[in-house]
Amino acid sequence: MRLQGKVAVITGSAGGIGKSIAETFASEGANIVISDINAEAALKTAEEIKTKYNVETMSAVCDVAKLEECETLIKAALDKFSKIDILTNNAGITKDNLVLTMTEAQWDAVIAVNLKGVFNCIKAVSKSMLKARQGRIINIASVAGQMGNAGQINYSATKGGVIAMTKTCAREFASRNILVNAIAPGFIRTAMTDKLTEEKKKVISSTIPLARLGEVSDIAKAALFFASDDSSYITGHVLAVNGGMYM
Ligand SMILES: NC(=O)c1ccc[n+]([C@@H]2O[C@H](COP(=O)([O-])OP(=O)(O)OC[C@H]3O[C@@H](n4cnc5c(N)ncnc54)[C@H](O)[C@@H]3O)[C@@H](O)[C@H]2O)c1
Repeated sequence: MRLQGKVAVITGSAGGIGKSIAETFASEGANIVISDINAEAALKTAEEIKTKYNVETMSAVCDVAKLEECETLIKAALDKFSKIDILTNNAGITKDNLVLTMTEAQWDAVIAVNLKGVFNCIKAVSKSMLKARQGRIINIASVAGQMGNAGQINYSATKGGVIAMTKTCAREFASRNILVNAIAPGFIRTAMTDKLTEEKKKVISSTIPLARLGEVSDIAKAALFFASDDSSYITGHVLAVNGGMYM
């Protein structure tokens, strides 16, 4: 049990990659805070994990784009568990379009959730982690933030920003033993990529040396590494989990 007794908050964890991270942490003994904008799904996931892994869980509705809601989430988690050991910033959205046709609303929406949302949650959790003189922050970036992606100027900008924030926070928090790392997934099979046509998935697979999309568990295993003692001398790192798509 690598996370026995730890408390982990995971944003956007009602489904997809976030849920898989929550399950993996719970399977290693962590108590879990499921937070999402989808209240019903968050509650269901929290109950499912509690029963399956015999850990304590709670669910909270939180739109990461709103600082006040992030502060409320962190307060609720601290009220229940008295500490937060691990924050995983996973919530993210896409609103793809070419530069020429992207609307201001599409740009603003993705920046608010993927970029400001990460800042909001880190800011909200920082006080308690700094006081505790320990913590782990894991940010879910993307291969699009490393190599760019046509049709995703908003998304790739946020994920590049997440990588920059990861390094800044790693430097800022290192003296208090708070380690901050990022995972940059390639294309992973979730609701987000279900939106792609089969044709597009085939084209993408042809650009991946391992010749397939990844699974949510591939990302969850990387997150477990960053949450556990196995990575205690690593901070400010960006771990590519992309089947070799970008090296
Ligand atoms: N799936 C991929 O191929 C892929 C690749 C690279 C990076 N990522 C990143 O991984 C993360 C998870 O993606 P996923 O594929 O599991 O997506 P998903 O759409 O399956 O799940 C995202 C979850 O976030 C929640 N969410 C959306 N907006 C939110 C908000 N404002 N506040 C809180 N929660 C919100 C959704 O309700 C959902 O439960 C995202 O940051 C995404 O950018 C995914």
